[in-house]
Amino acid sequence: MPNLILNGLSGWKPLNHDLSCSVEQKERENHMETIPRIRARGLTKIYRRGSEPVQALAGIDLDIAPGAFVAIMGQSGCGKTTLLNMLTGVDRPTAGELWLDGQRLDTMSEAELAILRRQHIGLIFQAFNLLNNMSALENVMLPMLLVGYSANEALKGAGALLDELGLGKRLHMLPGQLSGGEQQRVAIARALVNEPEVLCADEPTGNLDAHTGHEILHLLKRLHRQGQTIILITHDAQVASQADRIILMRDGRIIDEMNGQGSLPPSPTLFADLSGLDMG
Ligand SMILES: Nc1ncnc2c1ncn2[C@@H]1O[C@H](COP(=O)(O)OP(=O)(O)OP(=O)(O)O)[C@@H](O)[C@H]1O
Ligand SMILES: [Mg+2]
Repeated sequence: MPNLILNGLSGWKPLNHDLSCSVEQKERENHMETIPRIRARGLTKIYRRGSEPVQALAGIDLDIAPGAFVAIMGQSGCGKTTLLNMLTGVDRPTAGELWLDGQRLDTMSEAELAILRRQHIGLIFQAFNLLNNMSALENVMLPMLLVGYSANEALKGAGALLDELGLGKRLHMLPGQLSGGEQQRVAIARALVNEPEVLCADEPTGNLDAHTGHEILHLLKRLHRQGQTIILITHDAQVASQADRIILMRDGRIIDEMNGQGSLPPSPTLFADLSGLDMG
């Protein structure tokens, strides 16, 4: 049974007060702490459009630490969604290597990847992607049922999480009866309910008005403060500036990286590439 997610994120670790702990054990723990949540090396993706190859990713090297909040920016078509699809095992790279918490992803079978996605990765999309004929509660229960919780456990877990996200009075409504911000909060609850190591969001505020978008961003920041690793794609420089790290892509490559922390970083490359993007 998951903890109430907002109070008990997977990044939480008990303090180690055991002074008798062996040197080997401490070394092993130190080693664990240096393993990135995500590591990509030479990640390449070539799609085919008819007989034409389309190089969407041209060799991405990336480490994301546990608990990091990373924003990915870049002009339309530069490969942001493709990169997220690789990192989350939704699609496979043409070449390159990829690890989640030290576990190699690019060599896993489809069945192994499907299990990994359900348990370890939460995905949020611009268009919410909720099942329209299921209630808010049922949408959030579904991932729990898929990993083997009983209906009763799923009912309790999903209900408690939706309640924490301020949707306690909307549990039995269909997505079509909810506002955009409410639908996105249901989608966030669905992504979080199995306590994934990584929460990935592809323009989660893109379909929302400024105020509602701000609320969703506030929620992501709250999750980040509680230890959740977050990867967020956005066209909005103000949204990106809330992350710890901003990664800028162009033509399938990472071309620049900077700190976020609440203000737009003074990077000439970023400003050059932001022309044409929504400055929010
Ligand atoms: N399934 C596909 N088949 C062929 N080409 C594809 C496919 N998916 C993406 N591409 C191409 O790969 C490149 C990167 O696409 P991607 O969707 O990753 O861009 P993006 O940065 O997410 O853009 P946007 O900001 O518009 O969402 C583009 O040239 C796109 O046309
Ligand atoms: Mg995209």
